[in-house]
Amino acid sequence: MKQVVLTGIKPTGAPHIGNYFGVIKRAIEMSQNTEYDRFYFIADYHALNSLKNADDMKKYYKELACTWLACGLDPEKVLFYRQSQIPETFELCWILMNVTPKGLMDRAHAYKAVVQENETAGKDPDDGVNMGLYNYPILMAADILLFNTKFVPVGKDQKQHVEMARDIAKYFNKKYGYTLVVPNEMIEEKTATIVGLDGRKMSKSYGNQLPLFADEVALKKLISGIKTDSSLPTEPKSTDCTLFEYIKLFGTEEKQAEMAKRFAEGISWADAKKELFEIANAYLKPMRDRYNRYMENFEDVELLLQKGEKQAREIARETIARVRKAIGVDEFK
Ligand code: ADP
Ligand code: TRP
Repeated sequence: MKQVVLTGIKPTGAPHIGNYFGVIKRAIEMSQNTEYDRFYFIADYHALNSLKNADDMKKYYKELACTWLACGLDPEKVLFYRQSQIPETFELCWILMNVTPKGLMDRAHAYKAVVQENETAGKDPDDGVNMGLYNYPILMAADILLFNTKFVPVGKDQKQHVEMARDIAKYFNKKYGYTLVVPNEMIEEKTATIVGLDGRKMSKSYGNQLPLFADEVALKKLISGIKTDSSLPTEPKSTDCTLFEYIKLFGTEEKQAEMAKRFAEGISWADAKKELFEIANAYLKPMRDRYNRYMENFEDVELLLQKGEKQAREIARETIARVRKAIGVDEFK
């Protein structure tokens, strides 16, 4: 039996280049590794915590499904599915809640951050916190444990969630005997945090993102808006800036070296932005074209998902049967 690699992304808005260079690119590389059984999914029930509108849910799910495929996910090689089509996830989530100490959830970074903000603002510590936010890590543990996952490729910000999934699997196994595979995170330490157009971390919540599939006009406009210093066009420029960070992401090594030289000699910011647009556009165009084709033929994408969902459910049913047996509940009759 092959070991399982599994990862998911929440559909919470158009993916940006921070998501791409931070997690998607590496997840796609992993998806090509035939040593493993690979599960890639859309974590739509995780998105429910921030999406409270049916139209947004539909739109972002569609965009994310097309993003995975446009970035190179091959549904012949991996199981590609939506979390919401695997009801066994939610049954396992409930069972896992009953072995998870409350204290573990109290320590979750995302929950603690909200509490901290509330305390600073002099509000009730749990102001605006619902149980979906509080139990988020248990749902994520269910996603992971349902498919006997060994490795979970994620960004650094998800490390604690995978550690919690590991703890929860161990709590369960300790009480009921070995039933659930204990997972490990797979973190690329060297993926830097991609900076946003304003110099802070790129994030949808800051509105400083470069969307992965912005059309050429929008891409040019966003690049021309990157903050730069006020040095004169002929003055040497430091490569320690947002613009050069993007040149490093999109440019080949030769291009980076050539641009570093031009920065040292003195290049106008306008010319540097023009160059960046050219290399970013050349990099993104093939993916953008594929993305647009998938968006226009979404029925085909849905068929691919349905195929993945059918296979994923068979595995999910096997795990649930094993878990029900362990806890002393009858199988489905
Ligand atoms: P956002 O902050 O824009 O809402 P998400 O929280 O939806 O992004 O992130 C989805 C995934 O993309 C996460 O696993 C996260 O690690 C990764 N990611 C998000 N922003 C960045 C960034 N600026 N640099 C690197 N990785 C990022
Ligand atoms: N919480 C992850 C994120 O915000 C998404 C996610 C949900 C996930 N379930 C998962 C990632 C299981 C890996 C494995 O990015």
